[in-house]
Amino acid sequence: MNKPLLATLKGVAQPVPPLWLMRQAGRYLPEYRALRAEKGGFLALATDPDAAAEVTLQPIRRFGFDGAILFSDILMVPWALGQDLSFGAGEGPRLEPPLVDHALAALERVPERLEPVYATVRRVAGLLPSTTTFLGFAGSPWTVATYMVAGRGSKDQGETRRFAYNDPVAFQAIVDAIVAMTIDYLVAQADAGVEAVQLFDSWAGSLSPAQFERWVIAPNAAIVAALKARRPGLVVIGFPKGAGGKLPAYARETGVDALGLDETVDPVWAHANLPPDMPVQGNLDPLALIAGGEELDAGIDRILAALGERPHVFNLGHGIDQHTPIAHVERLIARVRG
Ligand code: CP3
Repeated sequence: MNKPLLATLKGVAQPVPPLWLMRQAGRYLPEYRALRAEKGGFLALATDPDAAAEVTLQPIRRFGFDGAILFSDILMVPWALGQDLSFGAGEGPRLEPPLVDHALAALERVPERLEPVYATVRRVAGLLPSTTTFLGFAGSPWTVATYMVAGRGSKDQGETRRFAYNDPVAFQAIVDAIVAMTIDYLVAQADAGVEAVQLFDSWAGSLSPAQFERWVIAPNAAIVAALKARRPGLVVIGFPKGAGGKLPAYARETGVDALGLDETVDPVWAHANLPPDMPVQGNLDPLALIAGGEELDAGIDRILAALGERPHVFNLGHGIDQHTPIAHVERLIARVRG
């Protein structure tokens, strides 16, 4: 197989770890900013298959990453579940009406809102270099629910955590609706041409152990089981950001094929405590990439040394920051590829 990233995710360690960066298509790239300005906003860009395919390919052309990640957003699923979605300049995404005081049952499903995403996948699949692995993605139910309930991002997800305790039956219905839509969404991405998918659980770190079992592990396990039944060849990467000491349980219980580590996880601890043959992805601090220089080099070397004995995909511990210098990305790639 001539795809080092896909091979690694399937458990075959490579002599040089394959590399991609979360949020690699985005604002740190001048060519992204130019196309976004021309299209007039994020949603216009993400729903135009020609433009979204172009943005997906920009970082592949510029840097030759081993993986291309579909250009879209985790909030496309709430949009397909019937909430209005907007990305106002400088204020983050908004979903209306927020489910904290509006019933889920009042929303009308609009799955055809996801059609442009599948058109983007088909387009990109026909244009990628033969050695590049194509990654699809979705948000995990807990993280997506935090946006659906509050209607926006928040620092500690307090509104949604309170809602889940106060009305677990209503919250379970929201999670179940996200699970069902996400399964169809990822199956359709696979049928359109992605080879692996990542489940982003950006706010997994805000839950107590019991709530983590219920709202992170259980719904992700349900998604993985359905994907394995419907599309057995599809590889699944789980990324429960902030899960810390709950990572081994997540790895054992969800059925994901590979595990994304955020930058707070010690890679030496991860290697010692995760199943020995499980591929891991990560986990350079995005701020070390902004800093550059010797701090960057040392951070890279520490990760390579700790994870060299197992299948390892080099990545950041979270999305690349918009203020990251392009030259530092080039330095990172040169050092990892040696
Ligand atoms: O990785 C990639 O390059 C693929 C595309 C991608 C985007 N968002 C594009 C995007 C992916 C995988 C995401 C995931 C995503 N979106 C997450 C999970 C990962 C994480 O970062 O925690 C979350 C929580 C979201 C929700 C979201 N989308 C927020 C909070 C924001 C605003 C803040 C921000 O980073 O801009 C977005 C907008 C967004 N999604 C942008 C991009 C490139 C910026 C839009 C712009 O150009 O203004």
